[in-house]
Amino acid sequence: MTKSGFSETHEISLPKPKTKGPVSVEEAIKNRKSIRRYTKSPLTIEEISQLLWSAGGVTCDGITGATRSFPSAGGCYPQKIYIAIGNVKKIEPGLYFYNWKDHSISLITKGDIRSSLATACWQQSMITNAPINIIFTGITEKTTKRYGERGERYICMDTGHAGQNVSLQAESLKLGSVIIGAFNDNKVKNVLNLKEGEEPLYIIPIGRKE
Ligand SMILES: Cc1cc2nc3c(=O)[nH]c(=O)nc-3n(C[C@H](O)[C@H](O)[C@H](O)COP(=O)(O)O)c2cc1C
Repeated sequence: MTKSGFSETHEISLPKPKTKGPVSVEEAIKNRKSIRRYTKSPLTIEEISQLLWSAGGVTCDGITGATRSFPSAGGCYPQKIYIAIGNVKKIEPGLYFYNWKDHSISLITKGDIRSSLATACWQQSMITNAPINIIFTGITEKTTKRYGERGERYICMDTGHAGQNVSLQAESLKLGSVIIGAFNDNKVKNVLNLKEGEEPLYIIPIGRKE
């Protein structure tokens, strides 16, 4: 079994992410905007490595320092991160789970799920056209068992931080992205085959700007 709980067919180690880049955080904030049209050019494993690391990878392993790329109320980290790969050089299309601790991805569903995912999101065509979609889900109970009803708010707040990381990282790589929050929860759950208690939160199509 993989760390996602699905039976494993294969796991791909991602290249080490870079922690220095040519674009300043100020430039990335200034230039970020929602991009909904992408070229047909594939992404590379280095680009998806960087994007997934920014989405929720390990930062510093200190006891008192941050351990992941985004903050989470009480350190609960109820989020799970997936990537729907459609067009990435040398990686077969499919739905993959991001193992943030060892920076790898595990195949969950073989084959391109982008158009079924778009159907679950009111036919938003950028989901099909983007070479990849990063998907955040959350296990609500992980935060609500500690904070009660307020935990539901915390999960959304956490995920907003992670989503902004992805948007800025995409901009820094000169890629375009858009946050998708408009979808049918049950349909997305079916496409991703989520277990009871795991809710879809964000879908982020990413590709080269047209
Ligand atoms: C929580 C959230 C949900 C969103 N959902 C969608 C969506 O489903 N479809 C879409 O095209 N844009 C969506 N957006 C993008 C917004 O429309 C966009 O950020 C806003 O119009 C501001 O434009 P900008 O991102 O270019 O600055 C969403 C943004 C957020 C933060």
